[in-house]
Order: sequence, then structure tokens, then C-alpha cells
Amino acid sequence: MPIGFIGGSGVYDALDLENETTEVVRTPFGDPSGPITIGEMDDTEIAFLPRHGKRHRYSPTTLPYRANIHALKQLGCERVLSSNAVGSLREDLPPRTLSIPDQIFDRTKHRTPTFFEDLVVHMGFAEPYCPHMVEHLSEAAATATDADHEQGGTYVCIEGPQFSTKAESEFYRQQGFDVIGMTAIPEAKLAREAEMCYATVAGVTDYDVWREGSEVTQSEVVKNAQANEAAIKDVVQYAVEQMPDERECDCGHALEGAIATDPDAVPQ
Ligand code: ADE
Repeated sequence: MPIGFIGGSGVYDALDLENETTEVVRTPFGDPSGPITIGEMDDTEIAFLPRHGKRHRYSPTTLPYRANIHALKQLGCERVLSSNAVGSLREDLPPRTLSIPDQIFDRTKHRTPTFFEDLVVHMGFAEPYCPHMVEHLSEAAATATDADHEQGGTYVCIEGPQFSTKAESEFYRQQGFDVIGMTAIPEAKLAREAEMCYATVAGVTDYDVWREGSEVTQSEVVKNAQANEAAIKDVVQYAVEQMPDERECDCGHALEGAIATDPDAVPQ
């Protein structure tokens, strides 16, 4: 079973892979962001997909999230790791640190968050990231890189493409959210619907706009995303090398009982 890796902003090429091939995968949800690179790392097969496409062609709203997850599912991935560029909502989480969030707050508005538009499917999503993968990525971050990292925390996912207003940024801080980005949703929801384990290593690129004197810019985000790339790859590489053979979580059974077969029993 290959392990999927969806690279976010700053991570556009695959890790150090052997026997690399490129696979063009078609899905009922259209084409994924681009061809998928398949290769081996330490005898483990990896399927790598740059989330925004090779030349960063998709915005967070127009990204083919469903095709991306479907394509990785077709390739047999049961576990998908990802990376994200995020802003920080906390003084003690400065740019160039890593966050491995365990919660998500969804503020997106214009994305299809399910594979099941024509079926009634109510799946549990209380733990949006696979708890085992969060733990595993955190252990990898502690071992494989000198970059500071934090395990746990809430990723608030905004629609974008604009960054937040100061009022919004301050509000998210008051809620106790930790990092802010634009791409965790619907990716995490779709991965769970596909019964995959999914977790992310997020590289902090900026302080968002809550902080006195902080005006987040695209160039700052790009510069720090590039600076975070090496640490993110080290974490993912180590996590892949140390991946346990068996899954011990519930992600593989996410749809059990979720598909409504009795119309009277469905919550309205
Ligand atoms: N991605 C990187 N930094 C961000 C920020 N401040 N807000 C939303 N998405 C981001």
C-alpha cells in the first residue's frame, strides 16, 4: 500500500524517491491537481501530489480536492500525510515553527465537502485528523528536525483567497484557535470519507494580522514556506520510514453505519 503525501505551498517536488514514475489518474470528480509521482523510500511506496499543481495553478477555493483524494484512493493509499502553510494566531508559535494540529474549525463557504452529494451519509468527524498519525508525525518532528514543533491545536480553515481582517483574526484568537490556513477543508473530510488516515504537518509562515505591525503578505508567506520545506520533508520522510505496518485507529471504518438506509431514521 503506498502512503500518500499531499504537498502544500512550498513543497512542489517529491521527497528523495527511488524508481520514480509518474501516473496520470482520472477520477469521476475530474482530474487531480496534476500527475502523481510514485516512488520508493526505504522500501515503502509513496504517492506524491502537489496540492496546488506543479505551478501553483489552483487557488484554495478551486482546488480539485475530491479528485485528489479519489486518485490517491485508487492508487491504494490507506494513509495520507499532508503539509500546509499556515499563519500563527499565537505569539509563542513564530514563523518557521511546525504545527501538527489535532482539531479543525471550518470557515469555508464555497467548497463541496463530501463525495456523497446524492446519498445521505452522516459520518462522525469529531477527531478530524487521525489521532495515531498526529502522534506519529509529532514523534517524527521531535526526532527528524531541529525546527520547533507543537503537537495538537486548532487549525481554522478560512475560504480565502484574501487573508483575514484584523477583526476576524482577533476573533479567532479569542476562540483559542492556534493556526490559520485555507486548505485543510475539505481535504480532511474527504480523506475520512475515503476511510483513510490523514494528518498534516503545517509550517508557520507568518503571524497573520492580529499582531501589532503585522501585515501578512504573499511574499512573506512564500519566503517562509520555502524556508519550511526542508524541515517538512524531513518530518514526512522519517514518518514514512517509521510507519507502523498496521493501522490501529478507526479511520478505516469511518463509514460504518454512516450511510442512511432507513429514511425515517435520518436526522432532519
Ligand atoms: N496561509 C499562510 N498564512 C496564512 C494566513 N495568515 N491566513 C490564511 N492562510 C494562510
